[in-house]
Amino acid sequence: MKQPFPIQQVRASFPALREDKNRKPLIFFDGPGGTQMAGSAAEAMMSYISDGMANLHGTFPTSIRTDDIIAEARGAVADLLNCQPSEVAFGQNMTTLAFSIARSLASLIEEGDEIVVTELDHRANVDPWVTLAKDKGAVVKFIQLNPETFTLDLDALDEVITDKTKLVAVGMSSNVTGTVTDIEKVRTKAQAVGAVFIVDAVHAVPHLPIDFKKSGVDILLCSAYKFFGPHIGMAVISASLFEKLAVYKLKPAPQEIPYKLETGTQNHEAIAGLIGAIAFIQNLGKDGTRREKLLSGMQRIAAYEDELAEKIESFLGSIPEIKLYRAPKGIRKTPTFAFTIKGINSREATAWFAQKYNMCIADGDFYASTMAEKLGVYAMGGWIRIGLAPYNTAEEIELFKEGLQRLISEQR
Ligand SMILES: Cc1ncc(COP(=O)(O)O)c(C=O)c1O
Repeated sequence: MKQPFPIQQVRASFPALREDKNRKPLIFFDGPGGTQMAGSAAEAMMSYISDGMANLHGTFPTSIRTDDIIAEARGAVADLLNCQPSEVAFGQNMTTLAFSIARSLASLIEEGDEIVVTELDHRANVDPWVTLAKDKGAVVKFIQLNPETFTLDLDALDEVITDKTKLVAVGMSSNVTGTVTDIEKVRTKAQAVGAVFIVDAVHAVPHLPIDFKKSGVDILLCSAYKFFGPHIGMAVISASLFEKLAVYKLKPAPQEIPYKLETGTQNHEAIAGLIGAIAFIQNLGKDGTRREKLLSGMQRIAAYEDELAEKIESFLGSIPEIKLYRAPKGIRKTPTFAFTIKGINSREATAWFAQKYNMCIADGDFYASTMAEKLGVYAMGGWIRIGLAPYNTAEEIELFKEGLQRLISEQR
């Protein structure tokens, strides 16, 4: 029998969601902007700090403990994403890692080569590669967005990816529309022409089980603050590519993978917190190895979020004043909804929700600015985005529905 989702236990795992007489309940619908942090992550950060911090590779206890914690974090990420611990490099955030990888990949790109990005992506998975192309005199090509379905036009891949293509960067899932892209289809084509295949999984990791090894992706990027952890980014780079990557680094710093990409002193406390964030997912899983627990934990999260997402989708789809930017049935989507309201500026709408309901809903282009321009949403003040996390509840969705109906009727 299917186990009910332990929503009360999950909510109790997030200190920011606690309710008491001095606090209005926080209704947080901006997971795609960054989730709340699991208590286990906050505690792991705090105990790293309060038990004594250090830099790496010393002979003294706090340094040895720091080395151990960082190794443990790489192991936890490896189980979450199914890669080798030595393929995991930490960095400030996904964007900074992407720029630094772009700089390293420059030695593989020559004038006249082609680099492929998409119209659907967050610009963090566009501009680092576009900048690289500019520096090297390479040509940038876009996989186009279908403005009716909010999916990428993968039927035209043969025209976009050619023998000249050296790098292809695609998002696993849109942080605006939630559209999940068939990255296997793009990977097959990219690798057939010998291009490096890069996937932005920042929005996907909190919602979909990931298997780096099976996916055959060369570089996968994600950020812990999108999956219940602290503000820190990760790059997973296949060992074969990582070994030969010519990184920019200090002469005395380690040359081996994964350390070679990590410049300067890392955010040790955030790396410690990441272990706690992954433990939160693991604790939702069934028996087995840590990888198996993480997989079943992620499947449980996805099933719960999908149930809630259906309620939002059918509601938003039923209101004539709402334009919903959602891919059709049959296309996998994360529980992330972008919409506009006829006659109401998106920023004013989110401010209204914040004031009346203490509800955190984001507005803007969410850095998916190519898509925002193509779809003409700037005229509305950008999109309104509501994104679910496993701590959201059916009651919160009812309140959102009530609020939206109120807001629209006040404007009529
Ligand atoms: C899909 C996607 N890619 C990349 C980023 C950038 O991540 P970071 O803030 O870690 O640089 C974001 C952040 O919102 C995102 O949603």
